[in-house]
Amino acid sequence: MKPSEIIDIETNHGAGVYAKQELVIVRGQGASLFDVDGNEYIDCTSGHGVANLGHAHPKVAAAIAEQASTLITLFESFPNDKRAALMQKMASLVPGLDRVFFCNSGAEAVEAALKFARISTGRVGVVATMRAFHGRTFGSLSATFNKKYRQGFEPLVPGFSHVPYNNIDALASSVDEETAAVILEVIQGEGGVYPADAEYIQAARRICDEHGALLIVDEIQSGFGRTGVMFAFQNFGITPDLLCCAKSLAGGVPMGAVLIGVKVQNLTPGTHGTTFGGNPLSCAAGLAALTAIEEEDLAGQAAEKGAYLMDKLSQIDSPLIRDVRGMGLMIGVELKQKVAPYLKSLQERNILALNAGMTVIRLLPPLVITYEQIDQVVVAITDVLTSE
Ligand SMILES: Cc1ncc(COP(=O)(O)O)c(C=O)c1O
Repeated sequence: MKPSEIIDIETNHGAGVYAKQELVIVRGQGASLFDVDGNEYIDCTSGHGVANLGHAHPKVAAAIAEQASTLITLFESFPNDKRAALMQKMASLVPGLDRVFFCNSGAEAVEAALKFARISTGRVGVVATMRAFHGRTFGSLSATFNKKYRQGFEPLVPGFSHVPYNNIDALASSVDEETAAVILEVIQGEGGVYPADAEYIQAARRICDEHGALLIVDEIQSGFGRTGVMFAFQNFGITPDLLCCAKSLAGGVPMGAVLIGVKVQNLTPGTHGTTFGGNPLSCAAGLAALTAIEEEDLAGQAAEKGAYLMDKLSQIDSPLIRDVRGMGLMIGVELKQKVAPYLKSLQERNILALNAGMTVIRLLPPLVITYEQIDQVVVAITDVLTSE
């Protein structure tokens, strides 16, 4: 099939909810993606933060292939070797978060965490933050802030409020004895790549404790090494009660998870569940992915490469740049104008990058990106931001 035919089919038969690029990608390797004609692109999207391990990681691919011919599906009522192994691994990641609920996506992880918070506390209120993105199902969308995602779908779930991000006083004055949970990203991704201050995250923990509310941390985008540690909150010496994960958890195979702390109560058979949750195929992929993340010290790589990239980006002398910020390999370059034309120019230079809102170029490369590739990305960004 010709690229134009492929694009036409997707345009005509897709639901219409995605803006399509004029670029057909058929293969990936490490931090590179290849189009139908074999042209190579450096992937600074990682499929929105999924491909932390890079594309076609051999150990993940082998684990999937082996499990596919062993057992793909098994409801969680029946224990399974791969699921048990992944549960054990997940439970070892964060001291105090010993239990795990498996699901299939980020929004489902958020949905589950919100339900767990309500059933656990018997309370309704959820305090989320401005600019937050937590997903597009009704519960997760209720925690998401931007009107762009919410408009046309109201009424959303009652009991949600939004306070300014990184503002301790605003959080303190909106959490009370009716609050089931506070939900936060430690570094906001879709909202514009805004890292929180340590004091804010620590205050969120304290405020929740003072009022008997649970703290839900959403590391769906920032998790599994991307920010230079396994989870970004680990920089700040706190432990959430519920930790939402997805994206890179299973090396690209769809999977979400909620890690659950001791304060979360009342989770009994039937309170929640999902058909595909904890299926052996995703679990085998997750096990291989987490093992590789640890063996290859991808968090350490993200810390070093992120510092290198951030330094190079900060040196670009362009009147278009307002700010460069981020953690590890989750980096935003905020411009004084809309980024869409610059993303297009980058694509013409074989660099695929994301926006975060209208004015931020978001870079989420695979953590295995090479220094040579990082240098190519910097050259291309410098070129498009200084060539006017
Ligand atoms: C922080 C955060 N939470 C939740 C989600 C939703 O995840 P999914 O698209 O897998 O439903 C995303 C997706 O971008 C995200 O970045």
